[in-house]
Amino acid sequence: MIDVQQLRLYKTGKVRDIYEMDNDKLVLSHSDRISAFDIVLTDEKTGKNAIPDKGSVLARLSRYFFEKAENAGIKTHFLEMPKGQENIIVVKTTDVFPVEFIMRHYLYGSYYNAFRNGQMELPPGSERVLAGKLSEPVFTPTTKAEKGEHDVLLPYFRSMEEGKEILYRIGDMLTESCDKAGMILCDFKIELGYDKDGSLIVIDELGTPDACRFWPRESYRTGQRVPSKDKQIVRDYLVDIGYKKAVDDAKSKGLQPPSPPELPSWLVEKVRETYIEIFESLTGERF
Ligand code: C5P
Repeated sequence: MIDVQQLRLYKTGKVRDIYEMDNDKLVLSHSDRISAFDIVLTDEKTGKNAIPDKGSVLARLSRYFFEKAENAGIKTHFLEMPKGQENIIVVKTTDVFPVEFIMRHYLYGSYYNAFRNGQMELPPGSERVLAGKLSEPVFTPTTKAEKGEHDVLLPYFRSMEEGKEILYRIGDMLTESCDKAGMILCDFKIELGYDKDGSLIVIDELGTPDACRFWPRESYRTGQRVPSKDKQIVRDYLVDIGYKKAVDDAKSKGLQPPSPPELPSWLVEKVRETYIEIFESLTGERF
């Protein structure tokens, strides 16, 4: 049993709280907080916009995929999940490589927006519509934003070759799991850190609905939004009620973003159910 209250809080992330266990181990405690567009929507004091069970889903899915990756020879920072503490994982300390490694199989999200604005091209032979299939996987690295900062697209450079190779191998692993579960992996993100020997290993979270877009195969259509089984449900809601535009407008004027709206209870429950459903269909385990 790990009592995080007894440990030194190293950092409060948007979703995970990180504690120091000893010199080379950290404890990642997964909260029920949800963030979107780099803004934490949950107020922990009042419980506003918390998604019940989300922390356990994230921790258990990450554990599942970290272990699967290790079995496939891909190194990760995962060490263990303490018995009976399903929102906690113990991990190796690494030097974080401050880049988000994103791989895309379909034209969606910020890549679709960048394409529409003429900022990004598509590989030849790709379907040039929303949710169109890309003719090959596309790697779009971004800088790792601290709380409240923008994600910025980085130009590709050679020193990221090692990370890109890991990204492709993880992509194969996640795609295989999605295939078995009748799902399409639209895109996903991984983070990497330097292990003691200087090699890059997978850190943070893996294969979760916070970091991937999962599409049920039967509801996939091009040219329109796909009903995604992941955090996109919340992003779409925030776009539809105009909150995303208000955030973008404030940021473009150098102002603080407006405080997040209260998510309706049907949405909170929909997100909770979707996260549990994704956990069960990808792992084959009961939540
Ligand atoms: O929003 P965008 O289209 O750039 O997201 C691409 C993929 O990366 C999505 O699967 C999204 O969930 C993930 N992502 C993330 N953390 C971020 C930005 C994107 O996990 N800060």
